Amino acid sequence: MSDVWSARAEAYRQSAIHAAGEDLDLVVDWCEPGPGVTVLDVATGGGHVARRLREAGATVVTTDPAPGMGADTTAFAEDLPFAEASFDAVATRLAAHHFADVVTAVKEMARVASGRVVICDNTFVSEQSEEADRLRDASHVRNYAVTEWESFFELAGLRLAEQHHFNRPLEIDPWLARVGCTGEDAERVRELLGDRIEDGWMPLPTLVMKGVK
Ligand SMILES: C[S@@+](CC[C@H](N)C(=O)[O-])C[C@H]1O[C@@H](n2cnc3c(N)ncnc32)[C@H](O)[C@@H]1O
Repeated sequence: MSDVWSARAEAYRQSAIHAAGEDLDLVVDWCEPGPGVTVLDVATGGGHVARRLREAGATVVTTDPAPGMGADTTAFAEDLPFAEASFDAVATRLAAHHFADVVTAVKEMARVASGRVVICDNTFVSEQSEEADRLRDASHVRNYAVTEWESFFELAGLRLAEQHHFNRPLEIDPWLARVGCTGEDAERVRELLGDRIEDGWMPLPTLVMKGVK
């Protein structure tokens, strides 16, 4: 898995839907960044959350299991190499659907946070859409429903303080190209997504949640 992601690092640094958006703005706001505030960015990928938090004055540490992402620490979300309550805030954006054990990961993020955990991810639409996601990218594990996310927070001992659910516009061609999904596989992905796609774009339901300890 890590090597696959290392090869994609530049594509994710350049990706428009990762570099900006209402979801990124909310994740940054809900981490409450500022001078003296420490934040851990889990599964940093192209580093967009970390960049924005640093611009807002926070001190940020990044983690990612893929060495090519160039994070400060190479680690899986399920096993974070930090002591309890090491950071004021812990964030992860657009990555939890790749985690092998999402509940363990949320518990780990809660463990190393002293104050708040902010998680943003795509949410479940249908089993057919899950099949499309897995065919596009074999590292896709699962998008979860809002109610599942609520239970993950509860299991991790986090009180849900904020949540916002909305659609992000996703452009299909660059989304397929970013992971090298071409030919018959790309056609099948489009077929599975069916009339969710309109004029080359698809609304992507997205959830941002903030839990406090
Ligand atoms: C789409 S990218 C992350 C995007 C980034 N957070 C952003 O806001 O632009 C997904 C990342 O999840 C990482 N990843 C996959 N499985 C993981 C796991 N179990 N724990 C932590 N990170 C993981 C990958 O290495 C990849 O860098």
